[in-house]
Amino acid sequence: MSTISENHTLENVARLYLLKLQAINQYEYFAKQSKKDGYEQIMAIFTEMHEQILNHAKTLFRLLEGQSPVVSLEVKSPGISNTAENLAVSIANEKAMIALLKECEALAWTEDQKKVATKLKLFSQISEFYVRRFEKLLKNIEDGTVFKKDHKVKWYCRKCGLIYESERALHNCPGCEHPQGYFEVLAENF
Ligand SMILES: [Fe+2]
Repeated sequence: MSTISENHTLENVARLYLLKLQAINQYEYFAKQSKKDGYEQIMAIFTEMHEQILNHAKTLFRLLEGQSPVVSLEVKSPGISNTAENLAVSIANEKAMIALLKECEALAWTEDQKKVATKLKLFSQISEFYVRRFEKLLKNIEDGTVFKKDHKVKWYCRKCGLIYESERALHNCPGCEHPQGYFEVLAENF
C-alpha cells in the first residue's frame, strides 16, 4: 500500500487513526458492560466491532507508513453507563465519525489522494450500518422487545445452540440452564 506524501489528508488520516483507537477501547468497555447487563448478543456485536475497527485502524496505520504527522486530538470520555446509554453514546460517536469521514474524504479527493478517499468512503458506509444496528438494538431495549416479540420467533441460545419457537425467550435455557440473556432471535444467513 502506498503512503501519503504531504497535505492535509496526512493529518486527517493520523487523526482518524487515533479516533479509531479510541473507539476500539470504548467498544471493548461497552461489550463488558453489555455482558454484565445480560445482553449477550449486544456484547458479541460490540466485540465484533472491536475487531473490525482494529482492522480499520490497521488500514490507516498502513497509509501512514513512513510518516510522522503531529496532530492534536480531543479525548472524550462519556464514561461507562448501562447498555442503553452506551448504545446512545455509540450512535452519537458513529454519526460524528461519519461526518468526519465524509469531510476528510472530500478533502482527499481534492488533494488527489484517491486510495485514501476510497477507504474513507467505505469506512463511512460501514459506520452507517453500525448506526442503523445500534438504533434498532436501543429501540428493542427501550420497547422491552429484546426478549419478547409480538409474534412467534425462533430463539437461539448462544451458549448451547438450543432453538425453540415462542413469543418470548425463557428465563433460563432448558438446554443449558443459562439465563435469558443468552437468547437471540435466530438468523440464518447461510
Ligand atoms: Fe442454552
